[in-house]
Amino acid sequence: MDYFNYQQDGQLWAEDIALTELAKRHGTPLYVYSRATLERHWHAFDRAVGDHPHLVCYAVKANSNIAVLNVLARLGSGFDIVSQGELERVVAAGGDPAKVVFSGVGKTAAEMKRALELGIKCFNVESEPELERLNEVAGELGKVAPISLRINPDVDAKTHPYISTGLRDNKFGIAFDRAPDVYRLAKSLPNLKVTGIDCHIGSQLTEIGPFVDAIDRLLALIDTLKAEGIEIDHLDVGGGLGVTYSDEQPPQPSEYATELLARLKDHKELELVFEPGRAIAANAGVMLTRVEYLKLTEHKNFAIVDAAMNDLIRPTLYQAWQEIVPVVPREGEVVIYDVVGPICETGDFIGKDRGLCVEQGDLLAVRSAGAYGFVMASNYNTRVRAAEIMVDGQNAHVVRERESLEQLWQSEHVLPE
Ligand code: LLP
Repeated sequence: MDYFNYQQDGQLWAEDIALTELAKRHGTPLYVYSRATLERHWHAFDRAVGDHPHLVCYAVKANSNIAVLNVLARLGSGFDIVSQGELERVVAAGGDPAKVVFSGVGKTAAEMKRALELGIKCFNVESEPELERLNEVAGELGKVAPISLRINPDVDAKTHPYISTGLRDNKFGIAFDRAPDVYRLAKSLPNLKVTGIDCHIGSQLTEIGPFVDAIDRLLALIDTLKAEGIEIDHLDVGGGLGVTYSDEQPPQPSEYATELLARLKDHKELELVFEPGRAIAANAGVMLTRVEYLKLTEHKNFAIVDAAMNDLIRPTLYQAWQEIVPVVPREGEVVIYDVVGPICETGDFIGKDRGLCVEQGDLLAVRSAGAYGFVMASNYNTRVRAAEIMVDGQNAHVVRERESLEQLWQSEHVLPE
């Protein structure tokens, strides 16, 4: 559930503000987030596990605006990061480094150093060379690095084809069968302390089965390790819980947690760590865009809008479907349009074959744009990146100003005469 609803005046609002008002004040394209929705989604995870020890580490990559991070930090959130940039954002937003887990296959020595200095909760390590490098960096600083190994749980691909795509890609994690050896190596390295185990089996999962299979395998591994004297304090189940873009019915965090807790009966002391990104942020945001032209041709109709693939690349990159709705619906004939941007690429579309009753100048809202939206924006075609607004009840705050054109080339230099 989110707080973007049509109100009695027939218009789409964000919490207690009409979106038309925000477009008038701030222009388009415009990202609009709802604080109440972000908080609701975060609490859904936090409350789902009740008294069982746990930490919700929001995946910063989904939406890294410091206002978003700050709202979650105020709730006591932890954070899942994948770069020093994300770490510095968390710090700038008032997040607690002691609640940060650091994922990613390519951590540099400099990134490790900074994370060690700040005292993060855990490094989610993805390979043996990474373990060795981390051991070295920690040694130089006279510190001990807390580590978890990201395990590729090799969930049966036939049962869960969605996951098999992820498994074919060997970039992520450590093969399940190799895990005990790599844990032994980790234990033998003097500047590392084994604290956890983690996995992340994919994104936008709409079924619980693959999660459960993965957790079962990880729990078995925890028992094997324990028998060898390697104690695991926390189980990080990654992110990946899907959201409703159209008619998907992903499990609620509460259903997911119920399944997990049922499996933790013999592991009551094991802290659960979640890394949700999309499930918290996606439906907490919309992108507003205005119709510039309606171009009707013999074969196809185009609604040419002022947002483009540089603003929201998910449709172009993944053929992702996101709902496009009029902010002020009209009565009249519904026409099928491809909703496209002004960029010079055929792949520049926001939605295809959408039934809309619109006129030039109308405002459209692209829903579910709070995750992997603005964060993936670029300046392609020398287009400035959109402004971002956070609505909080009746108040709207500019949480990122629209870029100016001059900013786009301020770090560029022409050759000397
Ligand atoms: N943890 C790790 C280690 C991850 O790699 C990811 C996402 C997450 C957590 C958060 O997953 P989520 O809960 O958001 O599914 N740009 C793509 C999504 C890429 C996800 C990458 N990893 C999209 O727009 O669909």
